[in-house]
Amino acid sequence: NKVGVIFDLDGVIVDTAKYHFLAWKDLADELGFEFTESHNELLKGVSRVRSLEILLDIGKVELSEEKKQDYLVSKNEHYLEYIYKMGPEEILPGASQLLDALDALGIHYVLGSASKNAPLILKQVNLFNRFAGIVDGNSVSKAKPDPEVFLIGAQKLNLKPEQCVVFEDAIAGVEAANRAHMISVGIGDAKTLHEADFNFNNLTELPQDFFTKVISEKIS
Ligand code: G6P
Ligand code: MG
Repeated sequence: NKVGVIFDLDGVIVDTAKYHFLAWKDLADELGFEFTESHNELLKGVSRVRSLEILLDIGKVELSEEKKQDYLVSKNEHYLEYIYKMGPEEILPGASQLLDALDALGIHYVLGSASKNAPLILKQVNLFNRFAGIVDGNSVSKAKPDPEVFLIGAQKLNLKPEQCVVFEDAIAGVEAANRAHMISVGIGDAKTLHEADFNFNNLTELPQDFFTKVISEKIS
């Protein structure tokens, strides 16, 4: 029973969610409305364009297409200021250990992220060369919760969707994994991610035998 893994990036491998939040919050401030951490949950895993639409809905603000384009550019410029300061110390607890464990087990893994900045972020934290493939916001036409990103990931792994385990911190990402008929693992608040097949607060909580026992039993 072969198995492969697809990792979301933001909030699973690295904590860039906090930088997205800061950059979006700045924009909300500029537009004159409140944007909270709980609002931010709705933006996790969602494409940049869709995130702006959700943000504007929250603030009940209407903008011209031209203005929207300007704000998308300035939000990303602001976000990238944080990204360029990132280093390997910002890899989330348990992530490097999990990749090492998968390498030792001979289990292949790819990235499945909505972010167009994913390759840059992986380079910043020295993980770019570790993945067997990268599916990011540049290679998909439909954003999470559409399963496209993960289905392309399964192709890169040469596996059927049922043989793939997806690690996700976002509601939209868990939904995408479920819609792809993959095994979904929610990383973060179990209440928020209650639709996932498995829940852990963070990657350090994954049991030692998660792949050798739990997943292999589920797949067979
Ligand atoms: C990730 C994050 C989202 C973000 C999206 C697009 O999935 O969870 O919050 O909006 O990527 O990121 P980008 O780097 O392309 O703006
Ligand atoms: Mg995420």
